[in-house]
Amino acid sequence: MKFLIDHADMEQIKRIYAIYPVDGVTTNPSILAAGTKQPYEALREIRAFIGADADLHVQAVANTVAGICADADRIRAEVGEQTYIKVPATTVGLAAMKKLKKKGARITATAIYAPLQAFLAAKAGADFVAPYVNRMDNLGVNGIQMTKTMQDILDKNRLKTQILAASFKNSQQVLELCEYGIGAATIAPDVIDGLIRNDCVEQAVCAFVKDFESLCGKGVTMKDAH
Ligand code: G3P
Repeated sequence: MKFLIDHADMEQIKRIYAIYPVDGVTTNPSILAAGTKQPYEALREIRAFIGADADLHVQAVANTVAGICADADRIRAEVGEQTYIKVPATTVGLAAMKKLKKKGARITATAIYAPLQAFLAAKAGADFVAPYVNRMDNLGVNGIQMTKTMQDILDKNRLKTQILAASFKNSQQVLELCEYGIGAATIAPDVIDGLIRNDCVEQAVCAFVKDFESLCGKGVTMKDAH
């Protein structure tokens, strides 16, 4: 499962990259609006930091087919042709995806709340489909189950499109989709930090250090021990 950061703040991106095995970054208009920089300033910084080969997903904002295609052209010119263009899986979005596919653009169908949206977006040429797991949960729809159903539909129809699950609010949601072997998950920094947070682990590590220091002296590690 690819592991991406759903955020645009450079400090957070650098911090998460320093710790975790990260494959890339996703943004959306709301995430960009939460920062202080203009969109392309923020996106160029992210691309420069993560490198040309890392996955970067950037959303088109226009709501016409021509507008989405023009947004995609500009995004690809600014931050690389390899950038995945996020397009909401609406009727307009599906029409735009078909055009973008013909131009060789990489596409992530986004704002997915139902399996048929994912199926049609995959047929329209999306490389990734992005179900909003927690937002479905908030509607009383089981986001994990829906996402698994989408994976089954893609597999059974032999579609190469992968799932990029989004909108996570807890580790259990990530775990269940990881167990199911979905293609990718994009996760906000605060949820990423919770993935391996566990007081028992901290206590175990502290106890090892304390025991070792009782034998060898304070601050001594394997490097200086006799
Ligand atoms: O890009 C979609 C995803 O970021 C939505 O996440 O946390 O706003 O539900 P959230």
